[in-house]
Amino acid sequence: IPVEDFDLVIFGATGDLARRKILPGLYRRFVAGQIQDSARIIGAARTDQNDAAFREEASAAIREFAPSAVDEAALASFLKLLSYVTIDARGTAGWDRLKSEMRPGVTAAFYFSVAPALFGDIAERLASNGITHDDSRIVVEKPFGRDLASAKALNKMLARYFHEGQIYRIDHYLGKETVQNLMAVRFANILFEPLWNAQYVDHVQITVAETVGVGGRGEYYDHSGAIRDMVQNHMMQLLCLIAMEPPYHFDPDAVRDEKLKVIRALDPLKPGDIVRGQYLAGPDGPGYLDDVENAESRTESFVALKLTIANWRWTGTPFYLRTGKRLRARTSEIVVTFKEPPHSIFDEAEAPKANQLVIKLQPNEGMHLTVMIKEPGPGGMRLVQVPLDMSFADALGQEGSDMPDAYERLIMDVIRGNQTLFMRGDEVEAAWAWTDPIISDWEAAPTRPEPYDAGSSGPEEALRLLHRDDRRWREIRA
Ligand code: BG6
Repeated sequence: IPVEDFDLVIFGATGDLARRKILPGLYRRFVAGQIQDSARIIGAARTDQNDAAFREEASAAIREFAPSAVDEAALASFLKLLSYVTIDARGTAGWDRLKSEMRPGVTAAFYFSVAPALFGDIAERLASNGITHDDSRIVVEKPFGRDLASAKALNKMLARYFHEGQIYRIDHYLGKETVQNLMAVRFANILFEPLWNAQYVDHVQITVAETVGVGGRGEYYDHSGAIRDMVQNHMMQLLCLIAMEPPYHFDPDAVRDEKLKVIRALDPLKPGDIVRGQYLAGPDGPGYLDDVENAESRTESFVALKLTIANWRWTGTPFYLRTGKRLRARTSEIVVTFKEPPHSIFDEAEAPKANQLVIKLQPNEGMHLTVMIKEPGPGGMRLVQVPLDMSFADALGQEGSDMPDAYERLIMDVIRGNQTLFMRGDEVEAAWAWTDPIISDWEAAPTRPEPYDAGSSGPEEALRLLHRDDRRWREIRA
């Protein structure tokens, strides 16, 4: 179904995110018939160039980042939607021109694909030039602050010009198909929800493992680290979707209210419940310290944590989170390990093992449930654990490449005016309120992160975080 007509302004249109994600994503939605020929996409950036040059750039970006979707006729039609305004975010140049490009009465969205330091300048100029109105939407990206104080300041600044219903804070994990599927699996089946609590769930693991290092983004990353870069946002969102109460409706505030309650119920992290790591050099590349060109750096490229949630549903069930760079495989998954049956009717040697539900977010999206069955054969009652495997691509007869990218999905939601998959201001602040003490305690007396081999599962200490509780991580594999 095509979305309504719109004017979308991309600030930072010559930047990396626009090239890699926003423009190719819009093009793919255009090919899918969701964007009408009358829509306008206006690039705005400091580079002095004309429409033709911007279209040329967009065309190159689409060929590079959405090659399988390229169709010459469609691409030519798409490029006609594009125009460009040279703009000075901190000055006066370009703002009149931008205003004249906007059509009255048409849905207007402004994507701030720029450094957060420019958010205030752009917001102020949009408002003071009368470019935005009550129904205009703005889209902002992470990092949304680097601690609670800066996130609050950012929220306060945006609130001077826009009300909450206009602000779309992107966490691209919420745009991933399988992340949304968490809600479908939990709340569209009766099978899981009755067992989804501390009485039946032994523990939950959330792993987001990457094979890439920080090469190229060293400067940003070294001032950030895995907790700010991944835990405060993406991992926290996954945790919320897994742990939240059923919302009364699939409605933006109903969903976000429930997520917020999870974050607020998190116990403060205990000092012994966190392991930080830094990758060493490997055959595929330099170590972290060389990547960030800072031999003294104590920033973590890996972190593992044990969290507890203080509410009726989850008291007694720990959640173990880990994420890191340069690990063995690229995989994001959530593993729910259920308790063992309370009583076994079988011989001791045949004691049933706990059921495990693995929700694989990427790559090879799917679900696996381990169940006990009888081993076939005449040898008496012998139990084996087997997987009930479901690959979403197979089940739906879809190629992975058919799945819309997270950004595509989210940009279309902005145009539709649906905030369900965007973070509300209070949610972001609550997440910082929880991570702040973890970061500041450590920054007050930083120790060296544990070194780990590139291509491994992270530092040994991270394994011990579970071993001491008599549990083990699921192996990291693609
Ligand atoms: C980004 C982080 O937000 O998410 C990166 O800044 C990280 O460091 C990336 O690599 C992971 O996203 P994805 O979609 O590749 O899992």
